[in-house]
Amino acid sequence: MSNADADLGCARCRLSETRTQVVPGAGDSSAALVFIGEAPGRDEDLKGAPFVGRAGKVLDGALAHAGISRDMIYITNLVKCRPPSNRRPKDDEVEACARHLEAEMGAIHPKIVCLLGQTVARNLLGCDSDMKSLVGKEFPLSIGGKKVRAFVAYHPAACLYRRENVESLRETVRRCTEAAGLR
Ligand code: URA
Repeated sequence: MSNADADLGCARCRLSETRTQVVPGAGDSSAALVFIGEAPGRDEDLKGAPFVGRAGKVLDGALAHAGISRDMIYITNLVKCRPPSNRRPKDDEVEACARHLEAEMGAIHPKIVCLLGQTVARNLLGCDSDMKSLVGKEFPLSIGGKKVRAFVAYHPAACLYRRENVESLRETVRRCTEAAGLR
């Protein structure tokens, strides 16, 4: 959702009852590279922007390592409202929110998308494989009415409790950056 398209009053699922606010995507609305996270957490729910907490710092580190910054890309989430206690979004919540992700991808037309974590990969690629067999791999994906190249990366939050994932996240972000022609 670029701010212009954001449905800030959306009440299509139960998450609208517990959120503080809708968290729209942010960044360059004509970016060649889009990162898709799972759902806003507490910090994002309070601030109204994606990846502004501890996981966001890890993502910023991976972007810096690849030689890019947030203003060169677009960052959004599979669902735009915080699930209570940061639980995983349920299938019907993802389905209710899909129109928002489709609309933003349709408006942005990215070349490359980076899917952050297993929940995002499972929902957008329609596969049940474990993270180990998905991470770093490239998949064709139709989203927003366009075909894009999708890369799967560890979710930045998974790097907070498993430091060994950081190197893998950085490497995938570097490959996405190159594939998008940003470096
Ligand atoms: N985790 C996510 O998946 N998205 C955010 O915006 C923040 C943390």
